[in-house]
Amino acid sequence: MSETHDAVDVIRTKRDGHELSDSQIDWVIDAYTRGSVAEEQMSALAMAILLNGMNRSEISRWTHAMIASGERMDFSSLSRPTADKHSTGGVGDKITLPLAPLVAACGVAVPQLSGRGLGHTGGTLDKLESIPGWRAGLSNDEMLAQLEDVGAVICAAGEGLAPADRKLYALRDVTGTVEAIPLIASSIMSKKIAEGTGALVLDVKVGSGAFMKDAESARELARTMVDLGTDAGVRTVALLTNMSTPLGRTAGNALEVRESVEVLAGAGPEDVVELTVLLAREMLAAAGVDGVDPADKLRDGSAMDVWRRMIVAQGGDPDAKLPTARETHDVVAAADGVVVAMDAYDVGVAAWRLGAGRARKEDPVQAGAGVEIHVKPGDEVRAGQRLLTLHTDEPERFDRAFAALDGAVTVAPKGSRPEIVPLVIDRIA
Ligand code: URA
Repeated sequence: MSETHDAVDVIRTKRDGHELSDSQIDWVIDAYTRGSVAEEQMSALAMAILLNGMNRSEISRWTHAMIASGERMDFSSLSRPTADKHSTGGVGDKITLPLAPLVAACGVAVPQLSGRGLGHTGGTLDKLESIPGWRAGLSNDEMLAQLEDVGAVICAAGEGLAPADRKLYALRDVTGTVEAIPLIASSIMSKKIAEGTGALVLDVKVGSGAFMKDAESARELARTMVDLGTDAGVRTVALLTNMSTPLGRTAGNALEVRESVEVLAGAGPEDVVELTVLLAREMLAAAGVDGVDPADKLRDGSAMDVWRRMIVAQGGDPDAKLPTARETHDVVAAADGVVVAMDAYDVGVAAWRLGAGRARKEDPVQAGAGVEIHVKPGDEVRAGQRLLTLHTDEPERFDRAFAALDGAVTVAPKGSRPEIVPLVIDRIA
């Protein structure tokens, strides 16, 4: 049982720029989870942390206190090693869908606990729920059985995992304290460590469509998370990847499932295939598996076989027709030229406003809504050529989506060159 403290003293300690003791951290997380530290007190503490930061040992203790607020899963009974991937979220980021079955096809089990979308970035569970019959909720036993039989599971995190984080994240969302790197890192890593994966690959997105708009803060977040994972015995590596332009050619739930299935069939957009294979190689290396190339498993259909089994195991029909939106509208080029930029954030907001995302946790999403992207930076276009197609069930949503897209695609005179940002900006281990 941890020592008792006074919430106001804990807030004052951080407000005045001092280090929180282990005992203060253990107490405040436990007391907040149980409801004896009030929301307004935790909110003041979160703001003090945002303003004054935490050092490595405080972040580590904070993370472990959040893990201790709930259950820990254990995959040690599985016959193969485990590896998971976490993306900090981006526009058109459907990589988890082809990646989980691909890595499983290479002999590593993938326990992928995912979330729903909030704001302009999509959620993996929303995407998979566009497959008729598929269900996100599995018990821990069902998850373990599917990992042994199929090798991959993508499902919702149970209520028992890091409940302190669930409460704190909802509070941060409404108090302007989401952006604190120690709080983001501890929030993500408490769930990943509690989940019990042996290895973890972090895809930290950088650019307009990401949480982290610049490489420097993305690097700091990545370093903090890699240190937390490593200190907890999880082999952790992070890639910093470009999110200034959308990933692939779709943003929206069923649209992204369709594109993921194309990747699993050995086709699909080049950037999605490249990132999927790169992350798969990192996951295999972190799990200690060598001698197998994930690109071969995409080509020979074995990743597709695992995908189909994974969908069936969760009640879905992999052959069912995916939902499509009732209405579509094309956005066309005003003049001849070259596409030099497409802003990920603008496209993400447009997809969200078309109905692909939600503003509040309880809102429903439209399976067929979103944005189809016909051109990428570097492509030449002619006046009148389609740049984007917008999809929604509710045509009254088009106007707000157009407003979001004002200036989203830059077409420059022929001969202009887009600024080339590499897909992978850095690797942190
Ligand atoms: N995702 C999380 O799980 N937590 C954060 O704080 C931010 C993103």
